[in-house]
Amino acid sequence: MGAHRIALIRGDGIGPELIDAALTVLAAVTGELEYVEVDAGADTYRRTGVACAPEDVELMRSGVDATLKGPVGLPDVRFPDGTEAGVLGGVLRTGLDLYANVRPVLLLPGVSSALAEPGEIDYTIVRENTEGLYASRGKGVGNRWAVSDTLMTTREGTARVCRHAFERARRKVTCVDKSNVLRSHALFREVFREVAGDYPHIETEFVYADAAAQALVLRPQEFDVLVMENFLGDILSDVGGATVGGISLCPAGNIGDHGAYFEPIHGSAPSIAGRGLANPVGQILAAAMMLDHLGRGSDGDRVRRAVTRALAGGAVRIGHDGSAEGGPAAVAAAVASFVD
Ligand code: IPM
Ligand code: MN
Repeated sequence: MGAHRIALIRGDGIGPELIDAALTVLAAVTGELEYVEVDAGADTYRRTGVACAPEDVELMRSGVDATLKGPVGLPDVRFPDGTEAGVLGGVLRTGLDLYANVRPVLLLPGVSSALAEPGEIDYTIVRENTEGLYASRGKGVGNRWAVSDTLMTTREGTARVCRHAFERARRKVTCVDKSNVLRSHALFREVFREVAGDYPHIETEFVYADAAAQALVLRPQEFDVLVMENFLGDILSDVGGATVGGISLCPAGNIGDHGAYFEPIHGSAPSIAGRGLANPVGQILAAAMMLDHLGRGSDGDRVRRAVTRALAGGAVRIGHDGSAEGGPAAVAAAVASFVD
């Protein structure tokens, strides 16, 4: 297979050390990746006035095969409207139309969970990534007394993310919504049903979002793929993360028809940056998802096997707070030594 070109966003806070860790593991797996650095995030905004330059957005749309991104954002770098200036959701998710935010939730060996045994929690949340409540990102209507954000659901936006969920499913897709209350979610459910008709071999299930929050804790073993509106997916993927050792272990892919980027689901944790405390497992697993997306699924499996073996044998230890003993460089070296 020929070389693939990858854009790298090192990001803010713990981002750069996590990206270094992921690169260590990728180097042990393949020499066929070329990297191009992209300056983006809160620190970029502070220096340049934009979180990501338009030509770099264009590069990620059409000049590379995929993007590997560290966490971005700094709490004190904000727009005048009070929202964070360094986060890239609006620029990359909306800008590149990356409509499926794919978030596997997997309980790995060596990670303690009160809920289940390793391997028993293994489902994927497919979060709609371009509309829903976050369609209001950067907008919102208001004055000094009141502000409102609008939740937008479109037929085509819902259909394409539901198709993505069904294509990914092995046995079942669960539609998560509050269609008992919100018309926008009732439309989401209606379109889900239409799409489900094209996948008669996949079971379907409907769970209201509040009940889903409980079910992800009480019976996580029952899920395969869950699909939901943007805001719900943001919240429930953090619930899922909490059941498998913490969000530090959880990767995500933001995938569209033209472009994709891969990142951990957690933030940039500036308070622990540079102190050798950050856990790079989510970032390393994001790199594995990127390899899958590039059609290098067997290399993605090699990364996941190395992570699993390093955890199972105790070479990498995860604390109850989701931290990884030794810090990112040591964890990456340990994982890399298990690459087959
Ligand atoms: C995520 C994050 C982002 C989101 C933030 C940083 C804007 O929480 O990827 O889940 O809300 O989508
Ligand atoms: Mn989130």
